[in-house]
Amino acid sequence: MSDSPRKTVLTAAQPTGILTIGNYLGAIKHWAKLVDEYECLFPLVDMHAITVPYVPAELRQRTRSLVAQYIACGLDPEKCNLFIQSHVTGHAELAWVLGCLTPLGELQRMTQFKDKTAKGSPINSGLFFYPVLMAADILLYNADLVPVGEDQKQHLELARNVAERFNSNYSETFKIPEPKIAATAARVLSLQDPAKKMSKSDENQGATILLNDSPDVIDKKISRAVTDSGSEVKAGSDKPGVTNLLSIMCGFSGRSIEELQSEFFGVGYGDFKKRVAEVVIEGLRPIREKFESVNDDKAYLDGVLKEGEEVAQKKAYKILSKVHRKVGFVERFR
Ligand code: AMP
Ligand code: TRP
Repeated sequence: MSDSPRKTVLTAAQPTGILTIGNYLGAIKHWAKLVDEYECLFPLVDMHAITVPYVPAELRQRTRSLVAQYIACGLDPEKCNLFIQSHVTGHAELAWVLGCLTPLGELQRMTQFKDKTAKGSPINSGLFFYPVLMAADILLYNADLVPVGEDQKQHLELARNVAERFNSNYSETFKIPEPKIAATAARVLSLQDPAKKMSKSDENQGATILLNDSPDVIDKKISRAVTDSGSEVKAGSDKPGVTNLLSIMCGFSGRSIEELQSEFFGVGYGDFKKRVAEVVIEGLRPIREKFESVNDDKAYLDGVLKEGEEVAQKKAYKILSKVHRKVGFVERFR
């Protein structure tokens, strides 16, 4: 991956557990389509993951496992850069400089921080600073495009603001990153409470389908999914449970809601759910198989991460040197 005129895409997820079909259908499946057209960087943001209580050994294991999950979902390391955030020291270094350009008030306005604070558990200042680290992730590689979901838009706006502020204080340095929203991305909802999104950190295991769930487990989870009153298989705001199952089926089959509605006209919820489960099981089969084989191959994963680190480090160093010069640091001797 040499210097190319292709635009750069960067996005990330935290290594906080096995990915759900929500992560896959709403994000990673779409990231995988970008690798031919763009220079793609997908850091595994382990430094973000320590902003909330966690278990060190689990973090290490989850970070490695996330690389294997990415590869299983189609992020081909020959075509994109998979690396660990903490391996490239520039993320923390740039975050410090950007933090010194970020007014306190801007961080206090972040709704995700406010939501987490409102829950009442103790908060560390890393969580408060989190959006600045995210801005550093993006700006360290001068990313043009950042695929993000709705919940990360405010953080991206902060990254854009801080880039603009740096450029106007110290002269043009950073590109202003744009959000990239996949028009076809599904928002997958909890199987147990379709008022909220399916999340890998949900304590209710019945609410999520994980990429490595076995066929039996998938079948059970879908058969127990909350459905709505009435008996028609039809999408609509009065039928969030059924709509969610239809949209999951669309995501895996590539068929439209309309097509599926006519296929299931007159079919009861029970039989409908059986079909949804079959489609999900078939859709996840190659992913689960690839995950299991890659996850066991430590040498291969190490190789991917080492190569990823080297490439990212080189790119990061170029920008960081420029930043250090502009802010008035004395040039390093090595
Ligand atoms: P997270 O699991 O919150 O770290 O999110 C990683 C990526 O997956 C982000 O781009 C999210 O927008 C996306 N994502 C997470 N959960 C869902 C969901 N239930 N439906 C659609 N996209 C999701
Ligand atoms: N904050 C993002 C999330 O929790 C993860 C993230 C970290 C990220 N750095 C990023 C996303 C840079 C996009 C770009 O989902």
